[in-house]
Amino acid sequence: MNVHSPIRPNLDDDVDLFLTVRAAMPELARGLSAEDLSAQSMADCSPGKWHLAHTSWFFEAMILSQTPGYRPVDDRWQILFNSYYEALGERVARPERGLMTRPSLDEVMAYRREIDRRMVDWLGRKEADARSRYLFTLGLHHDQQHQELFLMDMLNLLSHSPLAPAAYGKEPRSGPVEPSRGGETVFAGGLVEIGHDDDDFAFDNEGPRHRVWLEPYALANDLVTNGDWIRFIDDGGYARPELWLADGWATVKAEGWTAPLYWSPGEDGWSVMGLTGRKAVDPAAPVRHVSLYEADAFARWSGRRLPTEAEWEHAVETRPDLLSNAFGEVWQWTASAYSPYPGFTPTEGTASEYNGKFMINQAVLRGSSFATPDGHARVTYRNFFYPHQRWAFAGLRLASDARNDGPRMSDDENAAFRDDLIAGLSSSPKRTSPKWFYDGAGSDLFEEITRLPEYYPTRQEAGLLRTVAPDWAPRFGAGAVLVEFGSGASEKTRIVLDAAPELSAYVPVDISPDALDAAADRIREAYPKLEVIPVVGDFLALGELPAGLGQGRKVGFFPGSTIGNLTPDEAVAFLKGARRLLGDDALFVLGVDLVKDPATLVAAYDDAQGVTAAFNRNLLVRANRELGADFDVDAFAHRAVWNAEASRMEMHLQATRHMAIHIGGRRVVFARGETVHTENSRKFTEASVRDIAAASGWRVAEFREGPAPSVALALLEA
Ligand SMILES: C[S@@+](CC[C@H](N)C(=O)[O-])C[C@H]1O[C@@H](n2cnc3c(N)ncnc32)[C@H](O)[C@@H]1O
Repeated sequence: MNVHSPIRPNLDDDVDLFLTVRAAMPELARGLSAEDLSAQSMADCSPGKWHLAHTSWFFEAMILSQTPGYRPVDDRWQILFNSYYEALGERVARPERGLMTRPSLDEVMAYRREIDRRMVDWLGRKEADARSRYLFTLGLHHDQQHQELFLMDMLNLLSHSPLAPAAYGKEPRSGPVEPSRGGETVFAGGLVEIGHDDDDFAFDNEGPRHRVWLEPYALANDLVTNGDWIRFIDDGGYARPELWLADGWATVKAEGWTAPLYWSPGEDGWSVMGLTGRKAVDPAAPVRHVSLYEADAFARWSGRRLPTEAEWEHAVETRPDLLSNAFGEVWQWTASAYSPYPGFTPTEGTASEYNGKFMINQAVLRGSSFATPDGHARVTYRNFFYPHQRWAFAGLRLASDARNDGPRMSDDENAAFRDDLIAGLSSSPKRTSPKWFYDGAGSDLFEEITRLPEYYPTRQEAGLLRTVAPDWAPRFGAGAVLVEFGSGASEKTRIVLDAAPELSAYVPVDISPDALDAAADRIREAYPKLEVIPVVGDFLALGELPAGLGQGRKVGFFPGSTIGNLTPDEAVAFLKGARRLLGDDALFVLGVDLVKDPATLVAAYDDAQGVTAAFNRNLLVRANRELGADFDVDAFAHRAVWNAEASRMEMHLQATRHMAIHIGGRRVVFARGETVHTENSRKFTEASVRDIAAASGWRVAEFREGPAPSVALALLEA
């Protein structure tokens, strides 16, 4: 995948860069005959010879001719090889480019060599100002665009030959096809930014960066394949007008389309003409050579739609790891019209005609194809073709509107997450609150952690609870209500519920609606007589208990050493709040992890399978999905360290490179090696538990310590 172009203005490398880029097209032409390079197969295509000449003319017209007194290599070439620049005068109409048998291929190659010589000379003089440097880089990218056009046009030409000749022995491609991933990825959308905004080269049509509102959407992880397309054909896809837009259906009828361009039916099934000749269609390969009309009809047949270009860019920018072949296989049609972005300004001067004037009646394609030169494409790159055109290496990736099934964050919670994250990342040192770890995926990862061999706290606490619960349960009394804070999967709860059958109600409180609802359902099913009243909320901001709980004693339950995630002040404030909430008669079962040797502690927070690392990084994944942030998740390393002074394990995410990320319109810069402090897990002693209990109005009635690696449970009385 080549998201960033290596073509950068760098004085020392300019000559190398120039000669490397310029060598590519003659290399593509090397095995082809002068006849192959002279013919033009249709008005949209140009002869190979013309591409070789035009890309040279571009450097002459845009750069060399700007030097006062410059004398063109040949005045006549200015008309022959101007493509579409009105400001540069007359030119040969495109459909007639194939009629130019003069100059000969040899003369064109001589013209190329002379332009290359003059450009190397110009580069050596190092006279370039910022504008001509931009035009130089533009010229290189322009050359690369024509390298791909050269292949498109050559294939189209050779496809007309009954001999089905191979242009190449091996397909010229910039990288291997990536294996498919399966499935789709759901994006929460929201207010996101798209477009180019950094110092690297981009075409004028890629900017300015701007905000776009996206409704929740899903994007297929893979491209549509030939096999998918054969099913579409077999289902009458090209014969059912209800699948097609009006213009598309008219084109199907007028052109007699029954399959993608270059496909032919045969006794052994479909074959397809490619740059290596005619071959059987590979059902696993991504489909190529379909128009926007066909892509749109296929999407409708699939019950999906094409993504907008903003959806595509947001998805690929935030989760490039989830999508296969976003780049390097086929350009992907989008549903977006090729229009200027808000604030678009064309490049000044002659190159102003490069993109802007084509912003009518065309659609945008994103990504890049196998034939796109290495390093040419970017995540913000906007390719464009007319809806009926299909000689480009174009395919598609499906999208759909995401349904909001299952509990999701409300707008208020979303804003709270965003504001808290921005505040934490703007502080020094950077920090985040552990409460944001627990979206659905985070809660699942935490459950996975509890089953890891290194993670002793859950096993040890559950074992200890089995011993103490039968001793303590009789003190709850009939009709008591169990209120659990940070209940998660409510697994340990079962030990208490089993030991205290006289409990009348269970109130699990958790900030994660995904985990809470599923856990409440499971408990209801297993304990049908128990009233289960889940409360979604922050236990650091406790309100009132749900109404109608009866007069029974309230028993707080706070296992999992979740209290260790709080600062000492928060822990005291929380215990005070819980005491107020539960009343004067309350009991409180508190689970804590105890201070022990650092090696055991570090292993518990940095497991060999990397589950804790995934849990830690999930915070960034969540921010990307729910807040439209653009963390490069892989660029953050998981760190677990023992802070003896503060008696706590700390989790950090460490930036492995210098980078800038964006959240909710804010830019946050990370220095290489800088960390975000994501979690504390304070380790207690009996004395420190007694201290926080006393400071918050509780009395320690019992303190029970389990076997090594040891955790403890304290029974507090109001
Ligand atoms: C470490 S897990 C413990 C889960 C379970 N109690 C156990 O012992 O296995 C912490 C739980 O607390 C929840 N949580 C974290 N911060 C919270 C907050 N401020 N308010 C409510 N719940 C919170 C998380 O969603 C998660 O389910």
